[in-house]
Amino acid sequence: MSDFTATRAMFDLPDGVTYLDGNSLGPLPRAATERMAQVMRDEWGQMLITGWNRAGWMAQPARMGDRIARLIGAEPGHVVMGDTLSVKVYQALAAALDMRPDRRVILSDSGNFPSDLYMAEGLIKALDRGHELRVVAPEEVEAAISDEVAVLLLTQVDYRTGRMHDMATLTARAHAMGALTVWDLAHSAGAVPVDLAGCGADFAVGCTYKFLNGGPGAPAFIYVAPRHADAASPALSGWLGHAAPFAFEPSYRPGAGIERMRVGTPAVLALAALEAALDVWDSVDMEDVRARSVALSERFIAAVEATCPALELASPRDPVQRGSQVSFHFEQGYAAMQALIARGVIGDFRAPDIMRFGITPLYLDEADIDRATAVLAEVLNKRLWDAPEYHERAAVT
Ligand SMILES: Cc1ncc(COP(=O)(O)O)c(C=O)c1O
Repeated sequence: MSDFTATRAMFDLPDGVTYLDGNSLGPLPRAATERMAQVMRDEWGQMLITGWNRAGWMAQPARMGDRIARLIGAEPGHVVMGDTLSVKVYQALAAALDMRPDRRVILSDSGNFPSDLYMAEGLIKALDRGHELRVVAPEEVEAAISDEVAVLLLTQVDYRTGRMHDMATLTARAHAMGALTVWDLAHSAGAVPVDLAGCGADFAVGCTYKFLNGGPGAPAFIYVAPRHADAASPALSGWLGHAAPFAFEPSYRPGAGIERMRVGTPAVLALAALEAALDVWDSVDMEDVRARSVALSERFIAAVEATCPALELASPRDPVQRGSQVSFHFEQGYAAMQALIARGVIGDFRAPDIMRFGITPLYLDEADIDRATAVLAEVLNKRLWDAPEYHERAAVT
């Protein structure tokens, strides 16, 4: 049984803050500060360039990939870290399209994160082979998977509403139609149990700065199913994905399996922080995290609906169809969120009118949910959001 009192103590949360934004940026794991200091002091400082071998920096992306593999149901040896999620989307989509040379349609949905769609547009342009990005409503995806589709490109959990796609069903449908799948797990990894191998997913990508708590700008990950690992063609053929990087050959040869999805020099310091963040996950079971996430989410929804009549639930009511966040529509959502933040309850806002709250059992409990609800009710029912300073839009919402 996972001990969530113990995991809570592993985070350094500011006094007086109730943090409901771990779906956007996870908080600081206490051990990360010392781990980074140690890598800087003892490894970078003392080993200098020999750290690549002596401290194992070069092997870090695969080592950390294996630790994430456990959380997303991937086979060991088939996940590697690096770059940002947008770059990993591009790589996975390019490799998948290359495996379906006779098809031209990339199918996605309007709930996908814009960067995924932008990267698909950019790739289509670069390939210049007449591909089409077809975007349908989330509930229409299954019916839209036809034998024209080369790749189904989906984010499993919708960043705005938390609506969760059924990965097993959609992957099976895609395969039945001869298509491949690229799953974006940005809002799934560390949020809900994921079974990539069990679902037969072809490619998956995700970030580590949200539910996994790796820190701002922490590196992304990519998964390629074992059956494709030595066939996937790397679109971003950087030297560290080469079969023999230090042979410095004049032309590219892909490395073995997932290694070919590496591009350039790994972010050693960022990976050190992530390593400390992943230590927290070693002590918990994903099924326990999910059960607790559902319980806390249900408590939050019930209390908000009972006390804040102006808010309308934007997330699916059925927990089975919901990730680990709860969202509400409110026309003045931006201002209301600023008023909440000013009172120590941190969530965020997504245009046009969504107030988002991440439910993260590693460091949230019933008392946090109750406090957040009480402050939210006060902000709404006393119209505390209606002050000029809460209406000024910052660059990051
Ligand atoms: C679902 C999803 N995909 C892609 C991205 C882009 O990630 P990055 O900024 O790391 O490239 C995000 C960022 O939040 C996201 O939520």
